[in-house]
Amino acid sequence: MGGADAGGHDNTANGDNTANGDNTATAVHAAGSPDTVVAWAPGRVNLIGDHTDYAGGLVLPMAIDLGTTVRFDRGGTHLRLRSGRRRPLSLDLPVAASVARSLSDLEPSWGRFVAAAAIEVGATVGGDGEITTTLPVGAGLSSSASLELAVALALGFDGSPLELARLGQRAEHAASGVPCGIMDQLAIAAGTTGHALLIDCATERYQPVVIPDTVEVWVLHSGVKRRLADSAYAERRAATESAAELVGPLAQANLDDIESIPDPVLRRRARHVRSECDRVQRFAAALATDDPTTAGELMEASHASLRDDFEVSVSQLDELVVALSARPEVFGARLTGAGFGGCVVALARPGSNLSGVGSTAWLVRASDGARRITG
Ligand code: GLA
Repeated sequence: MGGADAGGHDNTANGDNTANGDNTATAVHAAGSPDTVVAWAPGRVNLIGDHTDYAGGLVLPMAIDLGTTVRFDRGGTHLRLRSGRRRPLSLDLPVAASVARSLSDLEPSWGRFVAAAAIEVGATVGGDGEITTTLPVGAGLSSSASLELAVALALGFDGSPLELARLGQRAEHAASGVPCGIMDQLAIAAGTTGHALLIDCATERYQPVVIPDTVEVWVLHSGVKRRLADSAYAERRAATESAAELVGPLAQANLDDIESIPDPVLRRRARHVRSECDRVQRFAAALATDDPTTAGELMEASHASLRDDFEVSVSQLDELVVALSARPEVFGARLTGAGFGGCVVALARPGSNLSGVGSTAWLVRASDGARRITG
């Protein structure tokens, strides 16, 4: 899901915190022909503001220095791409006919994201090359959105970051069937080094928020591949829409109105969205005033709300948050992304080493957004 896995990539060769998409892309370009095109798109981690984007609320994600590189020699009527170091899988897609294809039949499954992006771009010329990634797949770091945006750029997309994000969102809906919001794609399209992005999803306006050098951002995998994510995600989105029919747009809804929603489940879902939007605002202010203690407390409150009111956590995520929060070098931690498994994000003092916590840990840095590197 926007969340979805771009399934099947093999990121093991580079799945550590030294990975750098730029280096990969430059090395590939050096070996390419004049018709070689190389595009790179980061993944994203959401610092705070989950399950608020599709409800027209606030989010604060950042593009990270792990991502997807698409490199091919342009030409021909087919898009032929390989991916995976240990067990490479190949996709062979006739670009002109891609519109007529049923995406759900495509194998390997990551080909669905490639095809959906190609359809959205309206590609007529194909190419022959490969996809490499330094992103963990299925971890909630938006590997599928990263792939879609890198493919769109490699196929010649030319437009603003917001237009690229909207294209990626349409591709994600088509490829995965999951009704994701705009957060992942916009974070990836409009990322800025050293900054997170405060996005108002009602207006799709965004502004960079500097990450102060008193904190570092860690991503820690719970070891649980996300489960039930797609159907539960759609169900959560539908619940927020039902609640909004009762009390108006949830991001600004009156708190008393929310507390008087008769259905207790809808009430909890609405309470999460409303309170999470407040936390995003306060978190952005805490970063701006270099107050990591307050930022960390807001992350803990966000996790509790996602666990208790929105009910998208699992015990392994809860335990990881508790373990991280007990460490003096950690300001705060919370699940990040859709939930139901995947990763926790933690804000920690510079120089901390959290690599023994969780099944895998990455120290990530805020990166620039998706771009064509050559071609
Ligand atoms: C997934 C979706 C996003 C967003 C998050 C939860 O990542 O793709 O649009 O809804 O879940 O915040």
